[in-house]
Amino acid sequence: MCGAIIADIQQQQNWDIRQLSPDEVDVVSDVLGLARLYEGNGRYFVVWAAGAPLGHVHLAFTEPPELQDLEVRPSHRRLGIATALVAAAEEEAHAQGFQMIRLEVSRGDAAAQALYRKCGYADAGLPLRRVKGRIVLRTGPIDVDDSLLSFTKQLPG
Ligand SMILES: CC(C)(COP(=O)(O)OP(=O)(O)OC[C@H]1O[C@@H](n2cnc3c(N)ncnc32)[C@H](O)[C@@H]1OP(=O)(O)O)[C@@H](O)C(=O)NCCC(=O)NCCS
Repeated sequence: MCGAIIADIQQQQNWDIRQLSPDEVDVVSDVLGLARLYEGNGRYFVVWAAGAPLGHVHLAFTEPPELQDLEVRPSHRRLGIATALVAAAEEEAHAQGFQMIRLEVSRGDAAAQALYRKCGYADAGLPLRRVKGRIVLRTGPIDVDDSLLSFTKQLPG
């Protein structure tokens, strides 16, 4: 079903959604973070239009797999790109045999929470995870002081 959604969206918007390949890293990181690149067992999906990357998401193959680093270029938001990226990552997780997918979202990020709920995710009811301190990503160190909600979605059996 996700595949059909992706095909519809792509046809409508003339986008291409594919896994990031090593020769595309430079052009994507010129405009998007790729903060989780080379972080363990995961892969990026990127939306392209006319040769330009518009957004990405990282799927980490933890148990269950986790959506991370969802980002859409500010000039291309509210067009359904994040929705299409989430669907592509779900399709891959399902193809790999997983039946659930999870993510963490800031308690204060109403936009991202609205997006995930619209994509079928729900609060897993776990205690908030407090994150405070300096974390080092590929893009450099960032200081975080946040509380994260856990969302999950059941994938088709
Ligand atoms: C959050 C983000 C990924 C959304 O990307 P997007 O491509 O604009 O999202 P979509 O167009 O697929 O939105 C689908 C739905 O999500 C909700 N949504 C998306 N952005 C929203 C916003 N700013 N405010 C409220 N609802 C929002 C809406 O319900 C929207 O449907 P609608 O446009 O028909 O109302 C993008 O704003 C972004 O990159 N933000 C910065 C990074 C970030 O916050 N990432 C998430 C970290 S957990």
